[in-house]
Amino acid sequence: MVEHVTLGKSDVKVHPVGLGTNAVGGHNIYKDLDEEKGRDVVRMAIKNGITLLDTAYIYGPERSEELVGEVVKEFNREDVVIATKAAHKTVDGETVKDNSPEFLKQSVEAALKRLQTDYIDLFYIHFPDEKTNKREAVAALKELKDKGKIRAIGVSNFSIEQLKEANQDGYVDVLQAEYNLLNRDAEKTYLPYTKENNITFIPYFPLESGLLAGKYDEDTVFDDLRADKPNFQGQKFKDNLEKVSRIKKIADKYEEETAHIVLAWYLTQPSVDVLIPGAKRPEQVLSNIRAAEIKLETSDIEKISDIFS
Ligand SMILES: NC(=O)c1ccc[n+]([C@@H]2O[C@H](COP(=O)([O-])OP(=O)(O)OC[C@H]3O[C@@H](n4cnc5c(N)ncnc54)[C@H](OP(=O)(O)O)[C@@H]3O)[C@@H](O)[C@H]2O)c1
Repeated sequence: MVEHVTLGKSDVKVHPVGLGTNAVGGHNIYKDLDEEKGRDVVRMAIKNGITLLDTAYIYGPERSEELVGEVVKEFNREDVVIATKAAHKTVDGETVKDNSPEFLKQSVEAALKRLQTDYIDLFYIHFPDEKTNKREAVAALKELKDKGKIRAIGVSNFSIEQLKEANQDGYVDVLQAEYNLLNRDAEKTYLPYTKENNITFIPYFPLESGLLAGKYDEDTVFDDLRADKPNFQGQKFKDNLEKVSRIKKIADKYEEETAHIVLAWYLTQPSVDVLIPGAKRPEQVLSNIRAAEIKLETSDIEKISDIFS
């Protein structure tokens, strides 16, 4: 049985492999998503021991939270850890960000309704806005925590300076930001601080939108967010595929899939205790849980690091 880990200084415990749900009802992110398949992805996760479900207001918008809420109703609420995020709102037809205490409080209430629950286990400020003092924004979430509406406090996409401002009172439990083997800036910017301050770092795009899963080749064509990502363009894409093929050799030694080895590698990094790979198909969820059970040898941890250095 895989040991569960605690989120920051909270009392929320999760299986180290969670589920990213931006492909569950995230119609504004991925084309032609099948909602029933999305529900099945969430069901598959919960039935197989995944506890953390990572959603957000902006996935859909709103629809991912609604679908996650529908499926959670089929299970014991205590067996599931719901994480959601907010910061976006529409003003005169434009999407803007708001971290004001008032907006965050309204956002939690609205998310509780969409999720059909009376508490959110982990609530994040999804993106920083330009005007709100981050300490005051987090203080608003602390009030909600004291009232039992949320159980842990997260921030996402904050710069290290914004994170320090947000965490002046030590209330931040989780930082979620981009980190993967093809984008390792977090090792220098965030991880020393998160480790020292008992903040759980949850990387997003851990598989770089599937690129690190080892299943694409030079002829693969993308028609979604990947079509614009720098790592998927021209020579860079070819170089990345070559690096991934070297991980595959290591994966073969362990008789594991490339994706699992990549995911297991992150869990060896300081304060990276939880992952939220996304999935469009139930079998991907099942497969990714394996990552928590793999123990990489030190020499392989270094080898993987060197391939992507
Ligand atoms: N805080 C933020 O601002 C932010 C931003 C982005 C994402 N996120 C969160 O992070 C989560 C993860 O990000 P992501 O889903 O965009 O990227 P990701 O985890 O890097 O990639 C997910 C994609 O990888 C492929 N995949 C997953 N498991 C696989 C396996 N075992 N074998 C082969 N392919 C596999 C699937 O792609 P295909 O099936 O399409 O090939 C899947 O859609 C999101 O769901 C979301 O919850 C947060």
